[in-house]
Amino acid sequence: MNILKILVVDDEPGIRSGVARILSRFTVDYPFMDEQIGFEVLEAETGEAGLEIIEREHIDVVLLDNKLPGIQGIDLLELIKQRQPETLITMITSHASLDVAIKATSIGAYDFVPKPFTPQELKSSLENITKHLFLKRMTSKLQKEGKQIRFQFLQVLSHELKAPINAIEGYLNMLLNKQFGDNIENYAEIAQRSVERLKGMRSLIMDLLDLTRFETGKTPSTPQEIDIKALALSAIDLHKPYAIQKDVNIKLHIDCDICIFGIPDELEIIFNNLISNAVKYNKQGGNVDIHIRCDGAEVSLIFKDTGIGIAEEEMKNLFREFFRIKNAETKGIQGSGLGLSIVKKIVDLYQGTIDVASEPGTGTAFTIKLPHPVRKDNE
Ligand SMILES: Nc1ncnc2c1ncn2[C@@H]1O[C@H](COP(=O)(O)OP(=O)(O)OP(=O)(O)O)[C@@H](O)[C@H]1O
Ligand SMILES: [Mg+2]
Repeated sequence: MNILKILVVDDEPGIRSGVARILSRFTVDYPFMDEQIGFEVLEAETGEAGLEIIEREHIDVVLLDNKLPGIQGIDLLELIKQRQPETLITMITSHASLDVAIKATSIGAYDFVPKPFTPQELKSSLENITKHLFLKRMTSKLQKEGKQIRFQFLQVLSHELKAPINAIEGYLNMLLNKQFGDNIENYAEIAQRSVERLKGMRSLIMDLLDLTRFETGKTPSTPQEIDIKALALSAIDLHKPYAIQKDVNIKLHIDCDICIFGIPDELEIIFNNLISNAVKYNKQGGNVDIHIRCDGAEVSLIFKDTGIGIAEEEMKNLFREFFRIKNAETKGIQGSGLGLSIVKKIVDLYQGTIDVASEPGTGTAFTIKLPHPVRKDNE
């Protein structure tokens, strides 16, 4: 059996011994795990004592009270993250105000268990944590063996889908309990939010499916001549509702009527992701200009926006899987950081190039060059 080391930092002896008792006979078992996982519990009465243990040995999970006699839980959280970034931290506290919760999450707390908790509540939190740790370790092991993608898929899916599922469940419960009275109109906002969450989940799943498809090299359909203008117009149409909401104006400028030999789904993915980004990272009232230019042996697709821009030092990472820029302007914008990595894979498949030019605060232009366009017969 595998053992995870749990450190409980709490000044109440009853909580520490309670956790030790609950976990002493508890094991986690999943169909995809070879072995059961059990727990060894270490206890610390103060933050200082907890830190000593963290400095001495590797701890998998810390259950951390916020209200401690000396150093406070939230400060300890930061120190633990510096010393053992891999350690997962669950805050256990009866004093959790919204402020503490937000701060703890932004520093990297993995979960919250409000006090007083039942044995079942503690067990479910640890079950989640164990699954997360297991998948993380499996991924890193398999990465070395070159088979990472299937497990990355599982890991990301389990991680990313948890939050929207919880949110939608919460909204549905509000509806079931008639929390806002009998008038259906009062529920319009939570229904809208649920729809947004579902859209996010769908786009993540689609992205991941695209990614695994390119990783395995399987292409489901046969190449054909694709009318690039029709494809661009249909992609613009798809993003219209979101663009209207953000008051972003999308325009197509095309100086030639050509076809590209390829698979429609793949070219759609290029257009969809670049238009989606150009709208998503734009400003209210901004513009997106898409230029399609033919230049003899190649066709250029330029996606230019008047959005928040990208700092020079971030550019080298843009095409990495799961990379997202985190700053005040991107806060609150949802995404999985997969779009551009998928676009890059497709462009490579077509032996094309992708370049980016940007100025923070002014806008960004992505330029894709694809070789061998085919002139349409009537030209
Ligand atoms: N046009 C743009 N303007 C400013 N920043 C951009 C633009 N396009 C991409 N970015 C930055 O690059 C990051 C990676 O983009 P990418 O499309 O790969 O992922 P995403 O948009 O976060 O998520 P997804 O496309 O998977 O839903 C984004 O998170 C964003 O920070
Ligand atoms: Mg994107």
